[in-house]
Amino acid sequence: MAKLDIVNVTVSVEDSIILRDINLTIKQSETHAIMGPNATGKSTLAKIIMGHPEYTIEAGDIKIDGESILDMTVDERARAGVFLGMQNPIEVPGVTNFDFIKAAVQAKMGKENHLSVGKFILRFEDTAKELSMGKGLSHRYLNVGFSGGEKKRNEILQMKLLNPKFALLDEIDSGLDVDALKQIGETVSSMKSPTLGLLVITHYQRLLDYIIPDFVHVMIDGTIVKTGGLDLIERIDREGYDWVKKDYQDE
Ligand SMILES: Nc1ncnc2c1ncn2[C@@H]1O[C@H](COP(=O)(O)OP(=O)(O)OP(=O)(O)O)[C@@H](O)[C@H]1O
Ligand SMILES: [Mg+2]
Repeated sequence: MAKLDIVNVTVSVEDSIILRDINLTIKQSETHAIMGPNATGKSTLAKIIMGHPEYTIEAGDIKIDGESILDMTVDERARAGVFLGMQNPIEVPGVTNFDFIKAAVQAKMGKENHLSVGKFILRFEDTAKELSMGKGLSHRYLNVGFSGGEKKRNEILQMKLLNPKFALLDEIDSGLDVDALKQIGETVSSMKSPTLGLLVITHYQRLLDYIIPDFVHVMIDGTIVKTGGLDLIERIDREGYDWVKKDYQDE
């Protein structure tokens, strides 16, 4: 069973440290949730696992099955089975949604394997339907003019079609109406499997009612300060983060 290890990772951007000594292991079959106040580094963590070039890894390592992936490009990491569903998906004028996803799936399969376009279209359409996505979205430019909810559905569409080993979902619930939240939550939950390791970043308990995590981590000031179970989510929902901060400062 594959595992993703984040080992003592410290990250900077433009000379300021954003993540400090992060340790986290995600095994296939596990679901981890990360919660934490705004601007504590949650998205940065997801981005550096995917290999975002803007950030500098000052110390530590990121490994899949014991092998460092730090030298790998975003594409190579995707091929190794890592997927990032972004908090703010980028808009790409000029590239249609369908072509983008098809290229990503083809790239993941490798040049030596041929993607049957006919079969892929059917899979794409079935999956889009399952996510209640309007038909027109496939032929529009990637995320351009998509509503907040459509962008989020589109990230999940990509995840379903790419079938990753490790999926990092960054605020996949933000901007969703209650029905969409239920649908996306249930869809992601139905993707749980012995071959998927899931990391879900969220501010709200609601999403985690559908995607029930095995581990809950709280991030404050660029560090994971607490790890626990579902009881942590309830307490944060009730009391906010002050008590976590206090515990952490008292240590
Ligand atoms: N490319 C960048 N350049 C400058 N500062 C950055 C960059 N990326 C992140 N930061 C800063 O790092 C901090 C952490 O940002 P990050 O987006 O990881 O927070 P977050 O925990 O995801 O917050 P939120 O809950 O609001 O999404 C913020 O202060 C942010 O401004
Ligand atoms: Mg964020």
